[in-house]
Parts: sequence; structure tokens; C-alpha cells
Amino acid sequence: MESASSKPHATCIPLPAQGHINPMLKLAKLLHFKGFHITFVHTEFNQRRLLTSGGPDFLKGLPDFMFETISDGLPSTNPRGILDLPLLCQKLPVHGLSSFRKLITRLNSSSSGVPPVSCIVSDGVMSFTLEAAKEFGIPEIVLFTPSGCGMLGYLHFQELKDRGYFPLKDESCLTNGYLDTIIDWIPGMGAVRLKDFPTFIRTTNADDTMFNYNVQSVNNSMKAKGLILNTFDELEQEALDVIKTKFQKLYTIGPLSMLHQQLCGTKTTETNLQSNLWKEDTECLEWLDKKEAKSVVYVNYGSLIIMTPQQLSEFAWGLANSKYSFLWVIRPDLVNGGDEVISNEFKEEIMGRGMLAGWCPQEKVLAHTSIGGFLTHCGWNSTLESICEGVAVICWPFFAEQQMNCLYSCNEWGIGMEIDSDVRKQSVEEIVRELMDGDKGKLMRKRALMWKEKVEIAVKPGGSSYTNFENLVEQLKQERA
Ligand code: UDX
Repeated sequence: MESASSKPHATCIPLPAQGHINPMLKLAKLLHFKGFHITFVHTEFNQRRLLTSGGPDFLKGLPDFMFETISDGLPSTNPRGILDLPLLCQKLPVHGLSSFRKLITRLNSSSSGVPPVSCIVSDGVMSFTLEAAKEFGIPEIVLFTPSGCGMLGYLHFQELKDRGYFPLKDESCLTNGYLDTIIDWIPGMGAVRLKDFPTFIRTTNADDTMFNYNVQSVNNSMKAKGLILNTFDELEQEALDVIKTKFQKLYTIGPLSMLHQQLCGTKTTETNLQSNLWKEDTECLEWLDKKEAKSVVYVNYGSLIIMTPQQLSEFAWGLANSKYSFLWVIRPDLVNGGDEVISNEFKEEIMGRGMLAGWCPQEKVLAHTSIGGFLTHCGWNSTLESICEGVAVICWPFFAEQQMNCLYSCNEWGIGMEIDSDVRKQSVEEIVRELMDGDKGKLMRKRALMWKEKVEIAVKPGGSSYTNFENLVEQLKQERA
């Protein structure tokens, strides 16, 4: 048994957004389970939010699993906070780096009372951390939170620029069919449309902040000791085979939620290790308990999307008119201009069969026997969590690599149907009916259950993700020697 001071010490640092914090936290818990001392790094901005959503004990952690903070440079009064991604991407590399350097110096000082930092596990889009890793001589490995297919898209951003697809010539390219241009020269991807790529290419600005940030993140990450992806080999082997050639090492250890469940179960100490930016509404689980098996549509658009009142209204009436029961999560900051479109007339119409919540325990919801399908924005965590529970999806991709996740869900994995980006209540109503009771819905559910079985094999001893995680732990321990 290792003494506290001789433990390997992993400092884990996610991009400060929920869809990045969740997989990094799962990974940190897995490393903790394997005997690592963990320092989990939030931003000061998020620390304030976490203490509000979860109370003062939220970030207490454990003696060998500590929460620390760095600055992200966002003014505390910024109303949009992390939803202002371009601002965050401008500020973080500067403010975050100097603050991160100070943190490592403090953790490594002889008076810190914790073992010296032996490895940095950084989000791939926090790649400024590589500079600190180099200065301190600490090995760094990066976790990219998107899918393999999404990652493959990001990896070809520079080539799309070099070949003249980016920047767009003018705004008309967004609507004149230009985005339907077929790209068939990317190894491991087959023929896809320009609009299936991560959305940061949809700009006329050659110096676009988000485009450049992503190119730089991918380029920097290739210098790390390895890449971790939250996916599993069987799901997207062809894309992964190509990605593997571009990084020093590739560890596909997903779905992290399932691997975590497999190895750690539900350890009671872990209640101290939560990081929800919104207060969870658990009443919806009791409401689901009262519903029949596979009878409820679950609707959630993740943590970053901001939609218009018109879009919200189309979803509202499409769901109401479908006549199915639904659990609809409307984040407090989901709608630009407030959610007053949720009228009394609508509430009366859905009485007894429609439940509205602000933020829910999504993994528990998806695992609930009452859930019959999921209307999702195709964030990668949501997509994977759905696959883990064998739940078929309706896809309404919005931004980032959600379009690629949608394409693969519909065309490769056979678990999804896409809804037009210009959403209309009539199409919502029709697609919900098809999902819940149509032949296509049945087929998709069958496919989703097949993937669930494959996931279960991947995370069991001898399975691909299980074995890759063992190898990752080995590398992280060796790097320190
Ligand atoms: C975005 C991208 O779309 C995603 O693909 C990328 O890798 C990370 O950033 P986001 O909008 O946060 O993600 O969606 P998603 O990736 O699905 O992550 C949301 C997370 O929050 C999931 O783990 C989900 O379980 C959790 N969640 C969401 C809840 O626990 N409750 C909710 O009500 C909503």
C-alpha cells in the first residue's frame, strides 16, 4: 500500500462547461479509485455557481480528492458567463495559464501537505496547460470530450481552410446550399456534407476566434503524451484508427459513466464529489415512477444551447399535440428573452402528462424504465448516456460537433432521426409519434439496445475500454517514475 506522500498525483482541469466537467470528473474519480491523489480544478466563476447550486459543502471534496480554482478572466458580473464561449476562449489562455502556474507551484511546495503533482490531465481545449506542464517538467495527457467522429472533423479544420472551404465567401453560403457540398476525402469518414462538420467553420471571418481556438487546441494536444477519448472502439473504429496515427498514444476509455459505474459502483463518499452548475430537480424521478414503461419522451438540450422563444414554442406545441407524456427540461438560461412562451394555455393542455423541470439528474432519467425516447441536441455526453441505456433519439443538433454526432447517430449507429434545424410543431409532433410507436422507432430502439450490449462488454474486465483504462493508469504511473 502506498503512503499518502508517495501517491501519484493527477491534476485534472476541464473546460469550465458542464459537458466538459462531467466526463473529466468521472475520469478523476476513476483515477482516485486507482490510488491517485486528485486535484480537480474549477474556475473561480464556476466555483461561485457551484456553491450556489449545491451549497457550501459542495466543493468540500475528500482529503485525497481536492477542489481548487484558477481564474478564467471573466468578470464576475458577466451575465452570460460560460455561455459566452468566444470571450472565454480569449481570456482563459492568458488568465488561466498564470493562475494555473501559481497553483502548481503551491501544490508542489514542500509545505503543501500533498504529494507533488505527477501528471496533468487536461481538457484538450485547455491546451494552454501544456505550457505549464513543460515549464514544470510534468507529463500531460489530454482528454477531448467530443466523439471520435467529431474529433476527426476538428482534426481537418486546417485542411478545410487550406483547400479553400473556409472561410465562407459570404453570408449567402449559409442558406444557398453551399453547406451541402460533399467532402469525401477524409480518411475514416466516408462522404459527409460541409454542414456535418463542427459548426465553427460556418463563418466568413478568416480570423474567427472559435475556429482558431479549435485548430490551436488540436495542434497543441498532439504534443501531449497521449489523447483520451470518451468513446469505445466498437462504436467508431474507422475514425479512431485515423485519430490514432496523429497522437502519441490514444486511450478510448468510454463511456466514462459506465466505466465509472463498473469500477466504482455508487460509493457513498462520492456524494462529496459532485459538480452540477444548476440545482437538480429530483421530483421528476418520482413523476416518472408513476408512468408506464417506455411511455415518456424525455427532452433536453444540454448545457450551452440558447434558443429563440419561437423555437421553444414550436417544440412546446409539437410535444403537446403528439399527445404523449413528456419530461421537458428547460434550463433557466435556455431561451433568449425568457420562457414566457410557456403559457397557461399550454400548461393546461399538458396537465398530468407533461412535466417541466429546470435541470434533472439526466443519467438517472435515461435509466428509468418509463423513458421511451430522447429528444436531444446531440451533445456527446447526452448521446453516449442514451446509448448506455439503449434509448433511441430524435436529434436536433445545434452547434459544435453535435451535427457530426447526429449524422453518426442516424446513419452509422441507426439509433436516431433528425429534426430540421428550422423546427416546426407539425414535424415535432410527427417525429415524436414515429419514435414512440412507428416502425422506424422500433428499429431504432432495437439498435440502441444492441449498442447497450456492446457498451456493457467494452467496460467489463477484458473489454476494450476497461483494458485501455488499465493501460492509461499504467502509463500515468510510469511517467512519474
Ligand atoms: C457540449 C457539446 O455539445 C458536447 O458534444 C461537447 O463534447 C461538450 O460541450 P453540452 O451542451 O453540455 O455539451 O451537452 P452534453 O455533452 O450532452 O453534456 C451535458 C451533460 O450535462 C450531460 O452529462 C448530462 O447528463 C448533463 N445534464 C444535462 C444533466 O445532468 N441534467 C440536465 O438537465 C441536462
